[in-house]
Formats: sequence, structure tokens, C-alpha cells
Amino acid sequence: SGSTFVPAVVVGTGYGAAVSALRLGEAGVPTLMLEMGQLWNQPGPDGNVFSGMLKPDKRSSWFKTRTEAPLGSFLWLDLANRDIDPYAGVLDRVNFDQMSVYVGRGVGGGSLVNGGMAVTPRRSYFEEVLPQVDAAEMYAKYFPRANATLRVNNIDKGWFEQTDWYKFARVSREQASNAGLSTTFVPNVYDWDYMRREADGTVPKSALAAEVIYGNNHGKVSLDKSYLAAALGTGKVTIETLHQVKTIRQQKDGTYLLTVEQKNADGKLLATKEISCRHLFLGAGSLGSTELLLRARDTGTLPNLSSEIGGGWGPNGNIMTARANHMWNPTGTKQSSIPALGIDDWDNKDAPVFAEIAPMPAGVETWVSLYLAITKNPERGTFVYDAAKDRADLRWTREQNAPAVAAAKSLFDRINKANTTIYRYDLFGKQLKAFADDFCYHPLGGCVLGKATDNYGRVAGYKNLYVTDGSLIPGSIGVNPFVTITALAERNVERVIKEDVAKS
Ligand code: FDA
Repeated sequence: SGSTFVPAVVVGTGYGAAVSALRLGEAGVPTLMLEMGQLWNQPGPDGNVFSGMLKPDKRSSWFKTRTEAPLGSFLWLDLANRDIDPYAGVLDRVNFDQMSVYVGRGVGGGSLVNGGMAVTPRRSYFEEVLPQVDAAEMYAKYFPRANATLRVNNIDKGWFEQTDWYKFARVSREQASNAGLSTTFVPNVYDWDYMRREADGTVPKSALAAEVIYGNNHGKVSLDKSYLAAALGTGKVTIETLHQVKTIRQQKDGTYLLTVEQKNADGKLLATKEISCRHLFLGAGSLGSTELLLRARDTGTLPNLSSEIGGGWGPNGNIMTARANHMWNPTGTKQSSIPALGIDDWDNKDAPVFAEIAPMPAGVETWVSLYLAITKNPERGTFVYDAAKDRADLRWTREQNAPAVAAAKSLFDRINKANTTIYRYDLFGKQLKAFADDFCYHPLGGCVLGKATDNYGRVAGYKNLYVTDGSLIPGSIGVNPFVTITALAERNVERVIKEDVAKS
């Protein structure tokens, strides 16, 4: 039995993948998307598509026997996690030796599990990180296109000031201000109008029912509702779910041959397929795309791949931390799971930090102020192919996160001093720990633009092979990354369709 041929294959269904598929479909190119996770549109026995954050079930996690929530403890007790059956759930935590990386699994990739914070990076830092990209064109054309197609919207400031659901953010804002720090509102893809109606009690609650990392049942415009819906609407794009690409080789005629494993949601192998294509777009995320190329290079199926594959990885300087407030300063029993404010101290030359004011929607008063700090850490990690385990292994040490911890500490020390408050040491595991430096939400790099690829994501050493996702960005972008990933993919695919696809 031969392989099935399609003109274009897109691996994954996250941001870079979704942009590529939509624009290929619009150009009339029959395109097949291969996604290892599920399509999340069928209600479970409880009537919901996703399981909640407070009582997660097997739908929450990608083949785990116990959930692995980022805030693993409260007063050092593991209250958040539950034993579950292994299943193709929506959130994965990929554990490397000294760093764990959270990623989404399913049609929509990270958009299914993320906080929806849609931040355009400041132009000066974008230029510093990607100097070879024409920033004028990005800020005039591709960032606006990304924001519009993602349906990014802004919170009503009047509502923000008076709703109980953002008391936690107002408390943190005041404490930042006491330390001379300013905050900024953060746009989102969560529909803020829908959230107001949740607060009014006229629609089912999602952000206001603590839903986010295991999926939002309502309110969030994830990629399946924006880019991917539009891609399917072209009539040229199809998506196969529970299909994991394993190997890539090039055939004599220049086409690519993929081996793909199809499983059921319980992990049972149903079929191994061979699919070939002329144009191959990798949008499997920083971990996924890098692993596919490393495996291909090191097992010899794509031997001309460059030694740059695997390099330039970073966690976007992610550090989580939390402060304990005074008894007279409660953060509220009602907390929206969608962040609305960030502390912007990126201009601080000694320790640039952009810290999102994160909720801790426990349903009870915790007096906790939680933050995800994005810092500027020059350290980079490297992926290497581990042949015995047939997977990419991340070379990154805890020590490499010391500059990120130091930057976060300098900011939150100032806030603590100005408010005579202290850190919480009980939230990040069994040890005394104020800074979570061993996991991240923002994996970036592995196939860096201009190094492992040309300036448009064309993989060095091969024709008609492209990287489209977060692996192009060299480890840091200074804000939450999906708007940048989307805009860069828009820029790259426009060029590739014009110069490579349309002419073939
Ligand atoms: P992405 O990871 O989105 O998609 C890759 C897809 O490929 C996945 O669906 C995966 O299953 C699939 N895949 C991988 N390997 C495959 C293979 N071999 N075969 C088939 N399919 C494969 N960012 C932001 O800007 N604002 C925010 O608020 C947040 N918040 C946040 C919270 C949490 C909990 C997480 C985990 C992440 C965030 N992020 C975020 C980060 C953001 O979600 C992330 O940067 C993007 O999803 C990355 O987009 P990519 O296109 O690179 O891949």
C-alpha cells in the first residue's frame, strides 16, 4: 500500500500551524493538518467539554496518572492534584531533568489552555530579539492582522474598577503603585463582554468558574473558533486528530514522506500511516517541531539539516512567585481566571520585568497575590536527540534560571518592602520555595529564525520545508508570546506562498 499524497501538510494546530493552514487554504492549496491531540467539541458525561480546574478528571491531562498543576500545593499540602486515568487530555507537562514545560494538546494547541493574554511586544525589544525582521512592516501590517484575526479585545475599564472578580488585580495594582511601579491593562482573546454577562448571571460561567488551564467551556476565542474555523471555511483544509507525526524523510522527487501514528483517546495504536506532500509546514510548537527535526537529522532521514537545530531555546524568562497579604488586605473569594493587568517595569535597565497579575481562584480567601513574571534572561538551552528514548532532551540547568529569579526578586522585594509584606513559600511544592524556577508556559526557540532557517522560516538544507511556530523565536520576547508567534507566521507564510507555493 502506497502513501497518500497531499500538496501541503501542516503538523500541529497551534498558532503558527493555524496561520499557515488558513493562508494556504485561501490560496487554494489542498492542505492536511495533523494534530496529535483531540478535537474538543464533544461534551463529557457532566455536559461539559472540559473538566474544571478545581476537580480535574482525565480530560485535563495528556496521558498522566495524576494531574500536575503548576500550583502544586497550599500550605505545602497537595490539594490541587487528582489521580486520573491516562488519556489524551488537553494539558501536557513535559518534564525534562531541570525544567518542565506546559503545552496544550488538541485542535488549537496552546490556545485551548492558555490565559488568552494577547500582548504585542514593545517594538524596541522585538527589534533587539529579531533584528533581521523588518519591524516597520511587522507593526504596520502583521501585528494588526494577527490581533484582528485572533479577535483580541479590551476590558471595559469602568467594569474592571467595580467588579468583585478583579479585586485581586486592583489590590496588586495598589501595592505596585506603593512601590512606584505602574501597571498596564492587557488585551485578551477571552470575550470580555461574555465575562460581564457571566458576572450578571445570564450565561454559564467559565472564566468566573475558575476555568483556564484545563480548557474554557465558554467565552474564550481559542484558535478552533478563529483561525482554524476560517481555515476549514476555505473548503481546502482538513484536520486529522489523534495523529502524531513520528518521522520525516525526503523522497527522490523532493516530496516529503511522513510516518504518522493514529491512536485512540486511550492511547491504543490504531494505525501507522504514510503521508507524502510537496510542502511541509512544521507547527508542532517549540518542543514538537524541534524534536521532529532533531530526530530526522540524527537518524539520517534528513541528513543535511544544520547543527543549529535544537539551539537557542529559552523559557521567556518565566518565573512564578506569590506574596502574602496582610489580613486587612484580602484578594477576594471571587477571582476571574483571566488576567487583566500587568506590572510593566521593562524599562528598568538592571532588571527588566513584565509581570502579569495572576488570579488564584480557589473559591476561598487566600490573601495571596500571584504573579507570572517575564524577565530578560540571556541564558539559552539546547535540545539534543536521545536515541535510546527516541525523544528530544533539553539541556537546561536550574542555575541558568538564576538571572530570571534575581530580576523577579528585585521587583517583588520592592513591592514587599513598600507594603511590609512577605513572599509565600508554600505554593510551589514540598520545599520552602518563593520562586518557581523549574517550569514554564512560554517555550521559545529550538529552530531559530535566521539560524536553523532562513529569514522566513525555510529550513536550512531543504527545499519546501518550513518552521512556522514558537521555535523560530530565540528564547525570549519580553511579553506573553502568542501574538508574536501569530504575526511572524503571517509574515513568513505570505512570502512562502508567493515565492515557493504559487510557483510550483
Ligand atoms: P502550540 O504549542 O500552540 O501548538 C503545537 C501543536 O502541535 C499542539 O496542538 C500539539 O499537540 C501539536 N503537536 C506537537 N507535536 C506533534 C506531532 N509530532 N504530531 C502532531 N501534532 C503535534 N501565551 C500568551 O501569549 N498569552 C497567555 O496568556 C499564555 N498563557 C499560557 C498559559 C498556559 C497554561 C500555557 C501552557 C501557555 C500559555 N501561553 C500564553 C503560551 C502559548 O500558549 C504558546 O506560546 C503557544 O501556544 C505556542 O504556539 P505554537 O504555535 O508554537 O505551538
